[in-house]
Amino acid sequence: MCGIVCYVGNKDVKPILLEGLKRLEYRGYDSAGLAIQDGEEIKWHRAVGKIVELESKVNGLEMKGTVGIAHTRWATHGEPSEDNAHPQRDRDENVFVIHNGIIENYHVLKRKLEREGPRFRSETDTEVLAHLIALNFDGSLSDAVRKTMSQVEGTFGLGVIHRQTPGEIVVARRGSPLIIGVSDNGHFVASDVAAMVRYTNKVVHLEENEVATVTADDFSISTAQAKHIERSTETVEWRAEDAELNGFPHFMLKEIYEQPMTIRNAIRGRLEPGEGVPKLGGIMPVWDKLKECRHITLVACGTSYYAASVGKYIFEKLTEIAVEVGLASEFRYRKLNFPPNTFIVAISQSGETADTLAAIREAKRKGASLIGIINVVGSSISRETDAGIYNHAGPEIGVASTKNFTSQLTTLTLLALLLGRHQNLSLTEGVQAIRALEALPGLIEKVLAQANHIEAIAEKYYKYGNWLFLGRKYNYPIALEGALKLKEVSYIHAEGYAAGEMKHGPIALINPEMPTVAIIPQDEMHEKMFSNIHEIKSRKGPVIAIATEGDDKVREVVDEMIELPPVLDFLNPVLAVVACQLLAYYCANFLNRDIDKPRNLAKSVTVE
Ligand code: F6R
Repeated sequence: MCGIVCYVGNKDVKPILLEGLKRLEYRGYDSAGLAIQDGEEIKWHRAVGKIVELESKVNGLEMKGTVGIAHTRWATHGEPSEDNAHPQRDRDENVFVIHNGIIENYHVLKRKLEREGPRFRSETDTEVLAHLIALNFDGSLSDAVRKTMSQVEGTFGLGVIHRQTPGEIVVARRGSPLIIGVSDNGHFVASDVAAMVRYTNKVVHLEENEVATVTADDFSISTAQAKHIERSTETVEWRAEDAELNGFPHFMLKEIYEQPMTIRNAIRGRLEPGEGVPKLGGIMPVWDKLKECRHITLVACGTSYYAASVGKYIFEKLTEIAVEVGLASEFRYRKLNFPPNTFIVAISQSGETADTLAAIREAKRKGASLIGIINVVGSSISRETDAGIYNHAGPEIGVASTKNFTSQLTTLTLLALLLGRHQNLSLTEGVQAIRALEALPGLIEKVLAQANHIEAIAEKYYKYGNWLFLGRKYNYPIALEGALKLKEVSYIHAEGYAAGEMKHGPIALINPEMPTVAIIPQDEMHEKMFSNIHEIKSRKGPVIAIATEGDDKVREVVDEMIELPPVLDFLNPVLAVVACQLLAYYCANFLNRDIDKPRNLAKSVTVE
């Protein structure tokens, strides 16, 4: 989704902006642009397509200056075109604006503005902001931005420069994240810490409805009512090398291979094997309420929703709590009737997903307590929940979520285990679960060791246009996630189903041209899954089984088999999904897809 990067300092700004834009590429975009204050002038350029297009336009051009704003746009209002790319400007080319988010009342404002004078040059909602800021400008850019904020409805992260206020950038936030980066050579502002991590890891998060004036030497934050806010810097965990490929051909593959490490990070310091109870400092602020809670609703979108769906089964296994799972995009519009002491657990990698954010706000309004299971530290959801658990998976650059998913499963297991041990789960079961979590990274390595075998399977099947993924219980959501991964990165049509639903429809699709990935570990659902495999084989459908190692009964009937080491049943999904991720990756690779930036997708969906 759209990205913002701004810099004001003592260094040449053009390469800093271009580098920052490249670091934001993973979020998904279709055009880009920048504006640089060069003495008395503001020079600006925009281009459709990749950042290299913009780079080749501005390379060699005289664009000197140490103050600039830059943007990657993901089209919402108006097609991807140079005119619609940001920065947008006012009629007299005094004000230049970059904007993430959506101005919801822009139609009304645009009609009014057009009657009064300015002619619009784009189809964007953002252009309204440029004209309004110009009209509201009376010597102070921050006052003009504040006044404009009071006139617009919707969401925004804004970066603004004005010809008459050289040396300063004004930024503002409502519903779209902005972070100020503090370095010895000046200040950065970005929508994502990835854009500045090469230069600094000292950051200040802007809160809702705040405005900041940023100069080379200073920054000053204030509310929409111009009340000054003091805020100190935080240090982020990201390292510049996290955003490098380190020899891997794609971030997706790198991140799949990072999973033994990221699971270790998710459990580090959190396990107390002797007592069979995890330690989760982040939820202590709500512990007294949480330990009495009997209703939890897990809300999330996409892959995070599938993690929540596995989580539901894990909670049911380990605790006495009634658990519901909700798609945040639907949940936010429901008439919510919570029993007393209900907890909402929001699950999100980015912590910025608009639907998930809206869902927790609605739940809070209805009196629920909120917990976040989040990867990005300091993100909006992590700040708006009452307590939380960080996944510690590190930056996920590949648009398709991989390592974060397995970390989500791990942190959900820790939460369920903590609550279960507080209820009826025995010490023996607690200790057993903790030992199994400790062993997980080593078991994932065993799945990764089959990468060549999985690549060979992908080579055999990548030309098939329709796939089915089947699983039961803990692995039903893995069937959904396996299908999602395959369609996202390879554009192959794939459907995920609870295997018990086969006879209710999908079996009509089975023929020799439709491979089925059947997730069949040796657990209580094994026999039922085995019957499903037979049903498919008797209709000549090819079957790729993801089964427990040594399961010769399965091996004899299926076409291909990927082996999982034995593990506690509720942890099987962590292993099975790694096999699905590799299968999707290699199919996409054979098809020459843009694996890390699949078409039409954005890493962080900050609009509805
Ligand atoms: C799929 C994927 C998306 C995200 C979804 C939620 O690979 O990445 O489906 O899972 O957009 O994003 P977060 O977890 O950031 O809320």
